[in-house]
Amino acid sequence: MTFAAVTELFTSRFAENPTLFRAPGRINLMGEHTDYNGGFVMPSAIDKYFLFAMAPNGTNQFHFTALDLNESISFSSDQLKPGHHWSNYLMGVVDGFIRREKKIYGANVVFTSNIPANAGLSSSAALCSGLGFALNDIFECGLATLDLALIAQESEHRFAGAKVGIMDMYASLFSKEGSIMLLDCQSNTHRYLPFKNDGLELLLIDTKVKHTLASSAYNNRRQACEKGVEIIRQKHQHVRSLRDVSVSMLKDSKVKIEEEVFQRCLYVVQEMQRTQQAVDCLRTNDSISLGQLMYQTHWGLSKMYEVSCDESDWLVTFAQENGITGARQIGGGFGGCVLCLLYNDLKKTFIEKVKSKYVAHFKKEPDFYSVKLTDGVSRASGD
Ligand code: GLA
Repeated sequence: MTFAAVTELFTSRFAENPTLFRAPGRINLMGEHTDYNGGFVMPSAIDKYFLFAMAPNGTNQFHFTALDLNESISFSSDQLKPGHHWSNYLMGVVDGFIRREKKIYGANVVFTSNIPANAGLSSSAALCSGLGFALNDIFECGLATLDLALIAQESEHRFAGAKVGIMDMYASLFSKEGSIMLLDCQSNTHRYLPFKNDGLELLLIDTKVKHTLASSAYNNRRQACEKGVEIIRQKHQHVRSLRDVSVSMLKDSKVKIEEEVFQRCLYVVQEMQRTQQAVDCLRTNDSISLGQLMYQTHWGLSKMYEVSCDESDWLVTFAQENGITGARQIGGGFGGCVLCLLYNDLKKTFIEKVKSKYVAHFKKEPDFYSVKLTDGVSRASGD
């Protein structure tokens, strides 16, 4: 996957030179399913990207070619509609500019990606963030980066039917190399926390179980949290989201809340506490406690929030049994990737062991990605 390949296809199709952009996927260290509850999250962009080659074409037609899918699609700005194809995400982004009364005309675009789709690494957010950033740049719309994140989020809500939080697109746009971002999803503001590795690595294991966020399970979790908030608010009127709720407030209202909703809310409130603790761990360089928090998050996701799957649970158990510092499923859930925090001298043996046992157990081979924490979306020189 190279800029040379997208540029070559672009120039052969459109006979001109494009502008190049790069949009990364993300991991999330801590704070899962807290973003749409007004909480904190700790994501970072990673060195897996969408690469775009793009130029305005002076019409109202958008021509997109997905190099690795070998698919092309064209639409005009008056043909934007929701759906389940990758082009609907792009239509949603164009729609976001139009609704903000930004003058964008047609464009020719070739793109490629090495972010695995539906693997919990936010490929759709990277696609939307990258396109938004590129349109803002080539048509000089002057939108702030936060507007681009909101446009990307609206595209997922309105055009793909997934009521996602702001984390993924925000991380794709605002991340900084070598840092974990602490993002406050209530105020949409962030700061950077240095990630000192000291021999530690972040390794992703792709379960190869494909989740689809558009599926109702994600939206259901969000509704359960809203239901919990509604009930707690009867007693505590200042409560706007689970961010304003403590464990004791939640327990106070337990009799009124159905058990499933209670477990979902309890997970979120505890995860918000863990996220604060994880910030301290990064500050004091305490990787042991950080790893323990990751395990706690995983089992909360699995047993209370019920968004895990056998493969993720198996991998996390295996990591725990093999002395790995921390491991947990990341992203929306129901499969995708498990993020491991581990010392690099354990990596080779651990990967070999996982591979053979996982294949024997699940009859499919997982993928492994050692990831670096990178900068957010940018214009690229093509190197
Ligand atoms: C998906 C969503 C995010 C977030 C995570 C869970 O990645 O896009 O907004 O809710 O799930 O933390």
